Amino acid sequence: MLQVTQKIGIKRIIIAIDGPAASGKSTTARRVAQRLGYTYIDTGAMYRSVTLKALRTGILDELRRSPDRVFALLREITIYFDGDHVFLDGSDVTTDIRENRISREVSFISSLKPVRDKLVEMQQQLGRTGSVVMDGRDIGTVVFPDAELKIFLVADARERAKRRYAELVAKSQDNSTLPDLDLIEEEIRQRDKDDEEREYAPLKKHPDAQQIDTSSLTIDHQVEIVHNLALEVQRSGR
Ligand code: CDP
Repeated sequence: MLQVTQKIGIKRIIIAIDGPAASGKSTTARRVAQRLGYTYIDTGAMYRSVTLKALRTGILDELRRSPDRVFALLREITIYFDGDHVFLDGSDVTTDIRENRISREVSFISSLKPVRDKLVEMQQQLGRTGSVVMDGRDIGTVVFPDAELKIFLVADARERAKRRYAELVAKSQDNSTLPDLDLIEEEIRQRDKDDEEREYAPLKKHPDAQQIDTSSLTIDHQVEIVHNLALEVQRSGR
């Protein structure tokens, strides 16, 4: 694919997809990347991995009192992707980072400046050659403000809670232990608030980003819209 892209002179662009929790960023980003033969980079998985490490090493509560302790945590951390799998310090953590406990704590960890500085540097390194679709909260505003295509996905909070609930049902062996829809919606709203109000790199739309409301779109439809926008930008050579 790389060879074909280079041969016919299509520009290797960066596509930044931002938006609040469960707005469909990761599914859209993954599928658009597949269609274009690009690499998909899930930056949320990186913040989740740091959160998992803080929990496993037992320093999460301590970090609330002494945030500077985070430097020690970051000194010896490796995060990398292999296809759809995420590895933290050499172990596959793809499933573990999706646990509810991590979803509840990740906004705190991602509000710490040293964490952001470290991960933004890693993300810029991963995307430096282009041909990437990267999703997160600050990709268009901080990580790649010059990305040729910037998308901001939004959706009604109730609709997003329904999607998250359906994901949990699909993964769960025992539905009686699942949180109810109201609780999921409350947690989503709280995380949006934390992400929007934090001091460093808050979730916000870059003025050039194209906003798409996915509340009443199917996933196929939203993939189609973003894919078409990407093809347009590639062809125009912008
Ligand atoms: O998939 P979901 O929308 O639940 O979230 P995610 O993309 O896995 O991101 C988890 C959390 O990481 C977010 O709620 C943010 O607090 C943080 N995050 C961030 O601060 N900056 C990014 N570029 C990506 C994620």
